[in-house]
Amino acid sequence: MCSANYNFDQLVGRRGSDSIKWGVFDPDVLPMWIADMDFQAPQAIIDALQKRVEHGVFGYTQEPQQLRDIVVEWILKHYDWKVRQEDLVFLPNVAVGFNLAVQAIGKPGTGLVFQPPIYYPILDVPSHAGMQPRPSQLIRRNDGHYEIDFDDLEKKASDNSSAFILCNPHNPVGRVYRREELEKIGQICLDCDLPICSDEIHADFVYDGHTHIPIGSIDPELARRTITLIAPNKSFNVAGISCAIAIAPNPKLREQIESARKGLVPKPGIMNYVVTQAAYTKGQDWFDKLITYLGSNRDYLRTCIEDSLPGISMSPAEGTFLAWLDCRDLRLDQSPHQFFLKRARVGLNDGARFGQGGAGFVRMNFATQRSNLDQAIERMRNAIRSRSDSP
Ligand SMILES: Cc1ncc(COP(=O)(O)O)c(C=O)c1O
Repeated sequence: MCSANYNFDQLVGRRGSDSIKWGVFDPDVLPMWIADMDFQAPQAIIDALQKRVEHGVFGYTQEPQQLRDIVVEWILKHYDWKVRQEDLVFLPNVAVGFNLAVQAIGKPGTGLVFQPPIYYPILDVPSHAGMQPRPSQLIRRNDGHYEIDFDDLEKKASDNSSAFILCNPHNPVGRVYRREELEKIGQICLDCDLPICSDEIHADFVYDGHTHIPIGSIDPELARRTITLIAPNKSFNVAGISCAIAIAPNPKLREQIESARKGLVPKPGIMNYVVTQAAYTKGQDWFDKLITYLGSNRDYLRTCIEDSLPGISMSPAEGTFLAWLDCRDLRLDQSPHQFFLKRARVGLNDGARFGQGGAGFVRMNFATQRSNLDQAIERMRNAIRSRSDSP
């Protein structure tokens, strides 16, 4: 698929570019795992970086003057949420952000509530913060759609817990939570007096029929108890020059973040600011075409799975560029991750790594050129077909 200005079908060699995605597996493995995309960033970002490189002086950096305005504008335009410039805290990336936020708002020795299967670095947050994990597992319906078990969530929230991490849109199950769901989560957090850290890094990746609603935008009470994390890192494929933005309308929470970061967590660097500013001011057109391409990859993958990968079923990806594949009906005698790595030479994420409810699943990244997607599907199809033929 090709647009007048952008060609997302164009292969871009990433081997030898110190890419984690393309560097971890043997060279004959097609990597479809870690959540970055195989596309070049928008030209406006490349130009902005080049311009700054040409200046040649890279000394200590202050925040660009207009950046807060630009980010406030992005949040208003894209998530319909009016925040103030002073609500923002700039951080190096989102993973630092959720660890820092939980260390700022949670209490050691108490519980941290989260919803597995979930982005696996979140599973490590309780131990980093001296807290106990309080997993409230999402429920998978027969059609692959995931729902929140609100009774269980309430139980975990009231079991000596002091903070909640939300992931919305949810990685890996692809849910984009609806307003009623967010209201219910919010009510539980209000009743149990839990502050919320909301990881919304995938906020821009929502497909037709879905809208991203920041939980902090739902009402002022929730805004006061929430630290929301957003970033250009995924949306513009710039995770290697990352920047994250914590939105904390409550000054007390901002102070807690600032005090937890002291001496340990730096502000972003000059190039990271350059990227963020260019992304949020000049990246929109590129992103609009990208999301169309990704939506069509998602639909194509789903159809291919339904038509020709028996034993696998894909959850509806309402958001993100990640497909959550249930492989339990394949009845493999090893994990599907191992099976597809060995027999198909396709590198996926092992579902078991995402915590409770993840065993028997794999996560596939479909933010790649259609020809790579085709190749992965073909290799997986052949592996399934031939598995009874050889030991
Ligand atoms: C839900 C979620 N949060 C955070 C991250 C990491 O973000 P960053 O690279 O900004 O630390 C990822 C990356 O895959 C993610 O999927």
